[in-house]
Amino acid sequence: MTTQSTGPGSTFDPSTATPSRTYASLRGAPNDALAADREAVAELRNAIEKVDEVVRENAEALVRAVRYLASVGYDQFADLGGGRPLQGLDARKLPDLAAVAAQERPGMRWLLIDSDITAITAGRAILRGIAETEQVDLRDPTKVLKALDVHLDLNRPVIVILGAVLHFLTDWEATQLMTALWGDLPTGSMVLVTHVTSTGVEPEMVARGKASYEARHSIRIYPRTEEEITGLAGRFVIREPGVVATVDFMPSLDELAPKEAPHFLMWMAERLPD
Ligand SMILES: C[S@@+](CC[C@H](N)C(=O)[O-])C[C@H]1O[C@@H](n2cnc3c(N)ncnc32)[C@H](O)[C@@H]1O
Repeated sequence: MTTQSTGPGSTFDPSTATPSRTYASLRGAPNDALAADREAVAELRNAIEKVDEVVRENAEALVRAVRYLASVGYDQFADLGGGRPLQGLDARKLPDLAAVAAQERPGMRWLLIDSDITAITAGRAILRGIAETEQVDLRDPTKVLKALDVHLDLNRPVIVILGAVLHFLTDWEATQLMTALWGDLPTGSMVLVTHVTSTGVEPEMVARGKASYEARHSIRIYPRTEEEITGLAGRFVIREPGVVATVDFMPSLDELAPKEAPHFLMWMAERLPD
């Protein structure tokens, strides 16, 4: 099933930066970046202190979480707004999340969903054999659920990953999606979220970063407070370690040294019985 998306990057437009390509550039893998993406990245680096570091820490935290979840037995994953797989070509040489899960749990099922045609085309080629892909706009929860139903067994727990993507949805859109997921996912499923936060960050930097991002990508971005990000869990129950900075989410021993803000916030929440 291929669905024509209406989200960012859904049709190829070289004049506008896309979140998928600028995010890959900030991780240190600028191979797909077009002139518009390079300009957007340059502006973001001026607007937001240590933005490359923030993005890389997000990527590392997601790798740690997926490795942990696969190691404890989860074998179905839906990476919503999963972005372009980078094949270890980023600055930290991180494996793609699907590859991490496949290594821990051969035979697992992985579904990559994104609105961006670049991410989907690359994902289809790079993750062939370990992942399925669908071009879907997360603002259309019916289509998201349909894709989950087609590619995964919804009688068994699923890990839904929403890495650095809910901040592109309005409160209403994010709530619609989370409510739809809660209604559809079987008990024992988990949702893993990372999100841009305004908590602990100078308001001027938040405003500068937001303005720069929106001008270059032609989309809205919603940095949320810790309380608002916590509230996105809705009826899902937030598990250990709670709502924390990405650097504090299951850190390995050599990462325990405190690092300065800003960071994305992160939580993992479970779908319990009604
Ligand atoms: C900042 S990147 C994060 C990529 C990946 N989740 C990660 O954390 O490494 C955000 C991704 O979400 C996708 N995205 C943004 N809005 C979307 C929407 N409405 N529907 C589907 N995907 C969307 C973008 O195309 C991009 O690939």
